[in-house]
Amino acid sequence: MKTITVALTGASGIPYGIRLIECLLNSGVRVQLVYSQAAQIVAKQEMDFVLPTRPQDAEKMFNEKFGTVSGELKVYGKDDWFAPMASGSKPGDAMVICPCTMGTLAAVAMGLSNDLLTRSADVMLKEKKPLILVPRETPFSSIHLENMLKLSHAGAVILPPNPGFYYHPQSLQEVIDFVVARILDHLGVEHQLTQRWGE
Ligand SMILES: Cc1cc2nc3c(=O)[nH]c(=O)nc-3n(C[C@H](O)[C@H](O)[C@H](O)COP(=O)(O)O)c2cc1C
Repeated sequence: MKTITVALTGASGIPYGIRLIECLLNSGVRVQLVYSQAAQIVAKQEMDFVLPTRPQDAEKMFNEKFGTVSGELKVYGKDDWFAPMASGSKPGDAMVICPCTMGTLAAVAMGLSNDLLTRSADVMLKEKKPLILVPRETPFSSIHLENMLKLSHAGAVILPPNPGFYYHPQSLQEVIDFVVARILDHLGVEHQLTQRWGE
């Protein structure tokens, strides 16, 4: 079973992160979830969705929301230094920060590691494991762009949530799925979310 860490931060685009978790669990992936306090605020604002503060409450809520899935979900508090992904000895297969704020992006680019979320990303980079950041801001300042370039040079994938319109999406769900499909492709997780080019 693949193990993938998903981090939600307080950028606009929480629906991408929630859909990503759902698709990973449906594909039989073990998901290790961590989120920032700002993610809780934005989830409420964008989806009227309460992300509980206690990890055990969050696990219960997601299990009820997604029903029967073949994967497993484990939620960690952002100060849980005993979480497996805090260590290079058990980093998991990949990590996705989706959506990713400019603040978290800067912290990862600087190697701050002052909470579980940024520490896990630092571990992925040092262990040369896949790290995908889905940054959301517009426009980008030169500070944002330099941080992204730095992360790209360090081995991270910068995957902005830019949907393509060449498939003529008919709903917001299709726009969300377009972005999530690209993330799943990079993770090597099978999906049927979108048509492939030329099909
Ligand atoms: C509704 C809402 C939307 C936001 N959207 C963004 C965004 O798209 N990008 C961003 O970098 N910050 C955004 N912010 C600001 C971040 O949440 C804020 O900088 C926060 O400190 C980030 O903390 P975190 O990186 O620990 O999640 C938004 C805040 C709110 C309340």
